[in-house]
Amino acid sequence: MKKEMILVTGGTGYIGSHTVVELQNAGYQVVIVDNLSNSNVDVLDGIERITGTRPEFVEADCTDIVAMRGLFDKYPDIKGIINFAASKAVGESMQKPLLYYRNNLNTLMNLLELMGERGVKGIVFSSSCTVYGEPDCNPVTEEAPIKKATSPYGNTKQISEEIITDVINAGAPFKSVILRYFNPVGAHPSAEIGELPNGVPQNLIPYLTQTAIGVRKELSVFGNDYNTRDGYCIRDFIDVVDLARAHVIAVERMLEDKSDEKIEIFNLGTGNGLSVMELIEAFERATGVKVPYKIAPRRAGDIEQVWADPKYANEVLGWTASTPIDDTMRSAWAWQLKLRERGIM
Ligand code: UD1
Repeated sequence: MKKEMILVTGGTGYIGSHTVVELQNAGYQVVIVDNLSNSNVDVLDGIERITGTRPEFVEADCTDIVAMRGLFDKYPDIKGIINFAASKAVGESMQKPLLYYRNNLNTLMNLLELMGERGVKGIVFSSSCTVYGEPDCNPVTEEAPIKKATSPYGNTKQISEEIITDVINAGAPFKSVILRYFNPVGAHPSAEIGELPNGVPQNLIPYLTQTAIGVRKELSVFGNDYNTRDGYCIRDFIDVVDLARAHVIAVERMLEDKSDEKIEIFNLGTGNGLSVMELIEAFERATGVKVPYKIAPRRAGDIEQVWADPKYANEVLGWTASTPIDDTMRSAWAWQLKLRERGIM
């Protein structure tokens, strides 16, 4: 028996596509809406090759309320939403703040409005550890204070969490699970889907794998004089498939009313901090491929160190990020090789 229908906004993107795979594997019916502004329609082929099922797809911009109403007219059985549709480049958000506020907030507000009208039971929201800023101590629990955002991107995540909270506290007839991701990396082990940033990557792993394959000359490691064990920034790198699985559990929790809480917040991380240099070493060890790098000045706005205390998610969701980092590095590399094979990168 097929389970309920879930709308995945931004479902052809990096985390979205991996989540669609896990949802379909768990028996959910999936409708993707995406404007393809930072993804490619071919991702649907990859999802179909992995799961044997092609998700429904609507090309539309979630900020377009008319198009979104049309989508709900076409798929009146949607019972849950996972909202990935958002702009996510920290640097770009400093240059184009309005784009970020408009895309990220209007998308969310449209969805919340339509959920009430159309009897949707819950929304999973993609938030980020960026809401904790530079944390006072690590690992970070969900109780850690929210720090003033240092970029419009980060601010949209904080404001979005507040919008959801205000709307539900005002009596909206649905639930929400807010997931604060740490640093998602890697690709599906089949190498059918993965991360494909437009232009020059800003994030560490796509830059690293593109350097390893020769598209980029060398990786700049931003800063070696941080107050950490080896002087490099520390992050909690979480495998994207582990992350995707948490969304399926969150959806189930809302649709099956497994919790009395109307809003729940979970940190999604491994609980282990790895430095940028330790990650480079893990990549080289796991793949046998050397990464040319140089030490560069610190990048403005970078957090020194942040990693998750995932205990709450572990206990309440019965979920852990269990993929070993070496496997994650191998999947990231297999995906880069696949892009080369296809002549894309
Ligand atoms: C940032 C955001 C996060 C957002 C994520 C996705 C903050 C504080 N963090 O994470 O909220 O969800 O991007 O876009 O706003 N590095 C290098 N060389 C590179 C690239 C990165 O050394 O070429 C280093 C960075 O200095 C950092 C680490 O690698 O220490 C991770 O960087 P990155 O992958 O960009 O993610 P965050 O900045 O942690």
